[in-house]
Amino acid sequence: MRPRIDRTFSVAPMMERTDRHCRYFMRLLSRRTLLYTEMVTSGAIIFGDRQRHLAFDRDEHPVALQLGGSDPVALADCAEIGAAYGYDEINLNIGCPSDRVQNGRFGACLMAEPQLVADCVRAMGDRVALPITVKCRIGIDDQDDYAAFRAFVDRVAFSGGCETFIVHARKAVLKGLSPKENREIPPLKYDYVYRLKEERPDLEVTINGGIASIEESLFHLGKVDGVMMGRAAYQNLSLLAGVDRQIFGDACEDADIPAAIEAFLPYVERELANGVRLNNLARHLIGLFQGVSGARAWRRYLAENATRRGAGSSVIREAAMFVTSSAVDEKVS
Ligand SMILES: Cc1cc2nc3c(=O)[nH]c(=O)nc-3n(C[C@H](O)[C@H](O)[C@H](O)COP(=O)(O)O)c2cc1C
Repeated sequence: MRPRIDRTFSVAPMMERTDRHCRYFMRLLSRRTLLYTEMVTSGAIIFGDRQRHLAFDRDEHPVALQLGGSDPVALADCAEIGAAYGYDEINLNIGCPSDRVQNGRFGACLMAEPQLVADCVRAMGDRVALPITVKCRIGIDDQDDYAAFRAFVDRVAFSGGCETFIVHARKAVLKGLSPKENREIPPLKYDYVYRLKEERPDLEVTINGGIASIEESLFHLGKVDGVMMGRAAYQNLSLLAGVDRQIFGDACEDADIPAAIEAFLPYVERELANGVRLNNLARHLIGLFQGVSGARAWRRYLAENATRRGAGSSVIREAAMFVTSSAVDEKVS
C-alpha cells in the first residue's frame, strides 16, 4: 500500500512560480493544501545541480515532485532520488506543450503514446513506495474526443498502475499555440473530467483549469475527488488563507495574512544569509493583497526596494505597513 495523500485541494506546478520559497509562504497560509514543485526534467536531476532543483524545507510538506521525461529508467532513477529527498508524491507531467518539451519528447505530446506513459509510471512505481500520479490534458490536436481521453487514462491506469489523474480540462495544441495560449484558447471541457470519474469511480480524479475561487472549487468537489488551482492561487494568494476551513472543513480560523508575513521573515533571513536575493523571495508576495486598500503601495514598495542590492527582510515588513495601516484607517473611519 502506498501512503495516502489528501489531494482535495492542491496548487498546480508552475515554472518560475512554485519554487521552494513560494511554497514555503503558501504553507503558512494553508496547512492542508498539497503543493507541487515546478517541473524538473529527468536530465536536470541526473546531470544538473540536483540540490538546487530538489532541496526544500521540511515545513513545506505535503509536497509533490513533478518530473518531466519519457525514459522509464531515467524517471525511475529520479523518482528514487526524489523519494530520498523526502517528497510525498512523484507526478509525471503529460500536459506541457512547449516546443522545448516536445523536442525532448515529453509533456503533452506523450498523450499520443499511452503505453510509453504507462511504462514510465510502472518503472517509477516499481522503484519507490510513493504514490505516482499523472497530470495530463484531455487530449492533443485532433485526438480530442472523450473516447481517446478515456483510452489514454485506461492504458496508464491498467498497464502502468496509476491510480490518480490530475486533468487540465482542455486539450493542448502542439503546433501553433504558445504555452500561454495553450492555457487560454482551447476550451475547457470539465464534462470530460466529470465523466471520467463517473465511469472510473475507482480512480482518483483531480480537476484543473480555470478554477478561480473557493466556491467554484466546492462545486467541482461535488463531481470529482480533487481540485488543483494554478494561476488564481498564485495571483491571489490570500485565497489560500481560507482553504483549510472552507474546503477541508477544519475547525480553524482562516490564516491571518499579517501573521503569515511575520512568520515568513525568519525564513527570509535564513535564505538571505545563504546568498538568496530578497527579490527571489519577495516576488512571490506581490499578489498577496488583492482589492485591499494599500495594495498598490505594497506592490510598488516591494518592486522598487526588494531588487536593491543588499535589500533585507525589513523591506517586506515596511511594505506590509502600507496595507495594515490602511486596514486600520478603514476600521477607524
Ligand atoms: C507560469 C506557469 C507555469 C506552468 N508550469 C507548469 C509546469 O511546470 N508543470 C505543469 O504540469 N503545468 C504547468 N503549468 C500549468 C498549470 O499547472 C495548470 O495546469 C494551468 O495553469 C491551468 O490551471 P489554472 O487555470 O488553475 O492556472 C504552468 C502554468 C503557468 C501559468
